Amino acid sequence: MRLQVMGKRLLLANVEGQFFLVQEMCSHEDVSLYLGCLQGKTLKCSLHGSRFDLSTGQPLDEPADEPLQIYPVRVENGQIFLSST
Ligand code: FES
Repeated sequence: MRLQVMGKRLLLANVEGQFFLVQEMCSHEDVSLYLGCLQGKTLKCSLHGSRFDLSTGQPLDEPADEPLQIYPVRVENGQIFLSST
């Protein structure tokens, strides 16, 4: 799911009930990861195929060599909140 929070374009992924919030755009080039492929906690960019670990933001493959910005979230009473840590 795409979100815009305080002017930032983000992606929210639900992996078996665990939520991950990361920047929408790939760290390699200015391409949305929205059309990428989600496999477990790994998100694969649709353009050059770099995979990112959603729990850390780290790229697992070249050509991306910069991590995605991640935003910790917590779920309370069915609502998702950005965590301050
Ligand atoms: S644009 Fe995502 S890996 Fe190149």
